[in-house]
Amino acid sequence: MSDATSVFAVVGSLRKGSFNKALLRAAIELAPDGMTVGTASIADIEPYNDDVRIAGFPPPVTALREAIARADGLLFVTPEYNYSVPGVLKNAIDWASRPPNQPFAGKPMGMMGASGAMGGTMRAQYHLRQVAVFLDAHPMNKPEVFVRNAATLFDEQGTLVDEATRKVVAQYMEAFGAWVRRMKAR
Ligand SMILES: Cc1cc2nc3c(=O)[nH]c(=O)nc-3n(C[C@H](O)[C@H](O)[C@H](O)COP(=O)(O)O)c2cc1C
Repeated sequence: MSDATSVFAVVGSLRKGSFNKALLRAAIELAPDGMTVGTASIADIEPYNDDVRIAGFPPPVTALREAIARADGLLFVTPEYNYSVPGVLKNAIDWASRPPNQPFAGKPMGMMGASGAMGGTMRAQYHLRQVAVFLDAHPMNKPEVFVRNAATLFDEQGTLVDEATRKVVAQYMEAFGAWVRRMKAR
């Protein structure tokens, strides 16, 4: 079986200096051979409105749905807001999840997150796993990546410089590649 896997990554923070954007950059850098990781911003996705949806998906939503559908695997890299998934990310998921052909069904899914605090996005990730049940996506159970005290692990350019965290992220991406291939082979 070929090791080639395509992953589409969605970051749950919009801010320029986001630790989660920086974490995704590290994940891309540390991804195993054969894995390509693409991403797109969710900043242009408007607040969900079912009237708009019935009239037709807005172009940024269509682009998101198509990117998810095309990818072998989906990776969320997200902060935790108030012990849960940030509203902008939940909003993007809500849009992408609407019929027809909702693109999450059967999709291998990964997640990681960086937080300024001690929890390392643990609670947000468990909420995301709950959402994945309805989406019928297949989140990888283990390993998990909870990046805590993010300000101490990245330099001023947003490079992940903490060696232990780099190792954990590299191991995660390796395992995620294997998970995606395993799900594809079913
Ligand atoms: C609205 C809001 C809620 C937050 N709630 C949490 C939280 O529940 N747990 C946590 O660890 N950090 C929380 N934080 C702090 C974030 O971890 C921190 O702002 C982090 O840097 C956000 O990720 P980013 O750098 O990718 O934007 C919150 C931040 C905001 C703006």
